[in-house]
Amino acid sequence: MNQQEMVDACLKHTLYTWAATGKVDPLPVQRAEGVYLYGPEGQRWLDFNSQLMSVNIGHSHPKVIAAIKAQADQLIYTYPGTATEVRAKLGMRLAELIPGDINTFFFTLGGAEANENAIKIVRGYTGRFKILSRYRSYHGATNATMQLTGDPRRIPNEPGSPGFVHVMDPWPYTFSWGETEEEITAKNLTYLEEVIQYEGPETIAAMFIETVTGTNGILPPPKGYLKGLRALLDKYGILLVCDEVMAGFGRTGKLMAYEHGDIVPDVVTMAKGLTSSYIPLGAVGVSDAIAEHFRQNVFWGGLTYNAHALCLGTALAAVEVLLEEGMVENAARLDPIMRGHMERLAAKHPSVKSHRNIGLFGMIDVQKPGGEPIAPYNGAHPAMNEMGKFFRDNGLFTFVRWGSFMCNPPLCITEAQLDEGFAIIDRALDIPDRLFG
Ligand SMILES: Cc1ncc(COP(=O)(O)O)c(C=O)c1O
Repeated sequence: MNQQEMVDACLKHTLYTWAATGKVDPLPVQRAEGVYLYGPEGQRWLDFNSQLMSVNIGHSHPKVIAAIKAQADQLIYTYPGTATEVRAKLGMRLAELIPGDINTFFFTLGGAEANENAIKIVRGYTGRFKILSRYRSYHGATNATMQLTGDPRRIPNEPGSPGFVHVMDPWPYTFSWGETEEEITAKNLTYLEEVIQYEGPETIAAMFIETVTGTNGILPPPKGYLKGLRALLDKYGILLVCDEVMAGFGRTGKLMAYEHGDIVPDVVTMAKGLTSSYIPLGAVGVSDAIAEHFRQNVFWGGLTYNAHALCLGTALAAVEVLLEEGMVENAARLDPIMRGHMERLAAKHPSVKSHRNIGLFGMIDVQKPGGEPIAPYNGAHPAMNEMGKFFRDNGLFTFVRWGSFMCNPPLCITEAQLDEGFAIIDRALDIPDRLFG
């Protein structure tokens, strides 16, 4: 099949996500290795978004491929009621690695299923029904997780399951809660406590947060927020669920992003980096108290592919590669290097409004003359579309979203490869700079 035949057949016989398929212009990919994607006609792109912020160890790592083959030879699948060595080993390894008393895991096939089952777990454990989450969040595209999600993808999916209450973030799109991070935290938590009162604390099972907000802005929490939130929720017996689907497994320079806030949630959801997307897998990790509850009480949930042996074997290998090859440390080491690139671009290009990164989790926001975001919330701007095309035509794969674009390379990236990415971005920023005359 040549490139055009492949693209045409994909568009004719398959549907694409979050789009009218007729308007999609898919990237034609033939193979991928390390931080690069390769097209059928010899094209090469530096993967500056780790696909969906998920290929944390980079593409086609030979150790993971060998482990997948070995697991396929040993055992591919048994039904969820079995005990297998790979299930035992991954449960033990995650209990050892995930900080705090998160020692028991329920395995799913991805992030939405992990959150979907976390909803059942917190409702079952507390006997309460309502769930709090924040507007600037994405938690998945299944029925309940779509309502858990705050971002605009929820709206065309309404009405969905009841019981989800959305609250304002510490970092709203157009205003600030205060002058300092401490003030922002204090005001946002005061507001949150009032919402809890209005909703009735005795009805609220849990609050879900992306520990570092991902798609909706790469937003690390302001100082003191995680500790303050943990204390506030504890006061009312409300559980804290950290969705680490995107932020976990080294992306922020620590294995789990909640380590930055020195807290332990009651429930952690994970996916993406757990297998670095080599094979689909998600998981819900629960505290010892919750695990004990479900030793005595039925967990009303199930999946044909729960604890699928091939997926679990892949996770064991992918997590070992992440750790053995020091990729979590590499993300922490490159944090100031990425920030340095962003600061240099901000000084040079009038169209750079702001930028932030934590580890190798980063975003640059683009502005119009006068300092407004170039695109409104959930909006677009022709200059951003043009930048997206420039990236693709010049060897960089990343996501452009509204008035911002992503900088989330695989955690195995080198300094030279980061330089290569930011050199392309430097040239692309000349496009929105033109608005400044
Ligand atoms: C924070 C977060 N939670 C949940 C999900 C949903 O995961 P999945 O697409 O594997 O269902 C995503 C996906 O992007 C995510 O970023």
